[in-house]
Amino acid sequence: MFNLVLFGPPGSGKGTQAAKLVENYNFVHLSTGDVLREEMRKGTPVGLEAKTLIDRGELVPDEVVIEIIRSRIKGLNNVEGFIFDGFPRTTRQAEELDKMLEEEGMAIDLMITFDVDEDVIISRILERGKDSGRADDQNPEIIKNRIKIYHDQTVVVAHHYRKQNKYASVNNMGTIDETFSKLSKHIYKN
Ligand code: C5P
Ligand code: MG
Repeated sequence: MFNLVLFGPPGSGKGTQAAKLVENYNFVHLSTGDVLREEMRKGTPVGLEAKTLIDRGELVPDEVVIEIIRSRIKGLNNVEGFIFDGFPRTTRQAEELDKMLEEEGMAIDLMITFDVDEDVIISRILERGKDSGRADDQNPEIIKNRIKIYHDQTVVVAHHYRKQNKYASVNNMGTIDETFSKLSKHIYKN
């Protein structure tokens, strides 16, 4: 088992690198953002609650995203590992994740943060917004709010894993393949 948290600001490449990891290892990719967008498309109560918050670039309550993760890891223990993408976003989410993994006889092995300059992030997100149709990827003010919320509420989550000696960072200013090759060196080797 190797359970990985991919961390970093919006647009830092978490989803892109998670997809490459899934191609190369038998990992299960869990993106809370993707799940919330799916709930929005289906118009479920969770999706409706999330929509107003996501459209403003704000965080969905801890309880909601914690339950999403809980329901998806339960019973799935014959996989090579999980990649958590966009979760945990608060210290409370990190503490709950530790607890629920422990109940399943697992733990987080490593958090990797992607370092990317802010101007690059903003232009990558605007570029992605042209294809993704994501409203929150198309408005510079919303993008700035997401980055602000990342600094105000999410950056602290790194301390949670640093304290446990489960932390590394990878520069993601280069190409997808360059980053993937740096990232791969950390898998199973922390
Ligand atoms: O992770 P991603 O950037 O796809 O998330 C998109 C939006 O979903 C975030 O800006 C936030 O509004 C919401 N979200 C959240 N809590 C999470 C994951 C996503 O509030 N754990
Ligand atoms: Mg993403």
